[in-house]
Amino acid sequence: MSATTDTPPVRRLADWSSDRLASLAEEHGTPLYVTDLDRVRENYRRFAGAFPDADVHYAAKANTSRAVLRTLEAEGSSVECASAGETERAFAAGFEGERVHYTAVNPPGEDLDRAVELADEHPGLTITAGAKDTVDRLAERGYDGRLCLRVNPGVGAGHHEKVRTGADAKFGVPYDRAAALLEDAADDFDVVGVHAHAGSGISGDDLGNHRELVSQMGELARSLDFSLEFVDVGGGFGVPYRPDEPPLDIDAVADATRNALGDVDATLVVEPGRYLVADAGVLLTRVNTVKEATETTVVGVDAGMTTLARPALYDAYHRVRNVTGDGPEVETTVAGPICESSDTFGEHAMAEPRRGDLLAVGNAGAYGYEMASQYNSRPRPAVVVVDGDLADVVNRRETLADVTATEREVAWR
Ligand code: LLP
Repeated sequence: MSATTDTPPVRRLADWSSDRLASLAEEHGTPLYVTDLDRVRENYRRFAGAFPDADVHYAAKANTSRAVLRTLEAEGSSVECASAGETERAFAAGFEGERVHYTAVNPPGEDLDRAVELADEHPGLTITAGAKDTVDRLAERGYDGRLCLRVNPGVGAGHHEKVRTGADAKFGVPYDRAAALLEDAADDFDVVGVHAHAGSGISGDDLGNHRELVSQMGELARSLDFSLEFVDVGGGFGVPYRPDEPPLDIDAVADATRNALGDVDATLVVEPGRYLVADAGVLLTRVNTVKEATETTVVGVDAGMTTLARPALYDAYHRVRNVTGDGPEVETTVAGPICESSDTFGEHAMAEPRRGDLLAVGNAGAYGYEMASQYNSRPRPAVVVVDGDLADVVNRRETLADVTATEREVAWR
């Protein structure tokens, strides 16, 4: 039976203290990401409590802030890294070798070179390959350490077609070729596991696909003539972005996962990213323009698609609320300062906005700062972490000098 700890399964945008957010914005300016480390801890404990027999590997790509990595390391989490850079950052945050997995997706040579060096420096690092070619490239580099094979289960899931990896030929070795490749690789490497990932933002409705993936992975592990240390069924556990959306029943997902896996003599590994950090973060942004349009009030703010890319990239919904306003509710369209019509945070009912009001954008802790860009020569925002009464800047606000720092004069012009 699962032993979920007694923490609320979701923190809604309305649960954040307006006074605290207003004073953080006052002190540090906007746009500003705020990450609550205590909420990261709560999410980890609830998640790990639902999967008591599994190893939890935090998917660092959701939020690689050292403060977040350190918090999860101290909670006992392992970490899944998507690049040599993320792997280095995991080690810098204090993870030990055996708690770090690097998942190589079409890895540039430099990534593999670095990963092999890191495996030397941190024995226990596991490298996950998603193609026979990647396995060969590791062998060419003299690597004979811990190897996991990413498998394409042919079944995907997720909140948007752009994040459904499971059935995409780009990811993993075709399922029907995996067993033979694993058995070959076992001659040259320490083959420790198999891996698959259905996609990101799996809801209760996608549970069927998740179950199918898990059951295929269990079958693959049982079909091998040697035993594995772990079967990794990926991440993708969704969170509610809309105020009326129910949270995922994580205990039910965990039960379904265990049942679908069946009897295998290997540890179950799960890789949540978003689930651990999404509702631990908000993005604060200041209103600079209020414009009455025919059917809506357009609220211009200082954050945009460069600050939080998800709405523009995936039509993702993020709830926006007026933290400082107290007027009657009006229908608004919240839009950023970038000269593109995709630069909008969508429509929201909120206390009548005035110039200078502070707005908060919910569920910004996952794939928020992480995907920020400098498009339109917009410096990236600052990030503050809070923990109880403490608060500190972990990423200073960039300046225009940061944006142009890599630029060089061309001698012949
Ligand atoms: N494991 C692997 C191998 C992955 O590729 C991913 C996410 C995860 C775990 C964690 O997925 P999560 O639990 O966070 O859903 N930028 C997109 C999400 C891309 C996810 C890519 N892979 C978004 O903002 O929705």
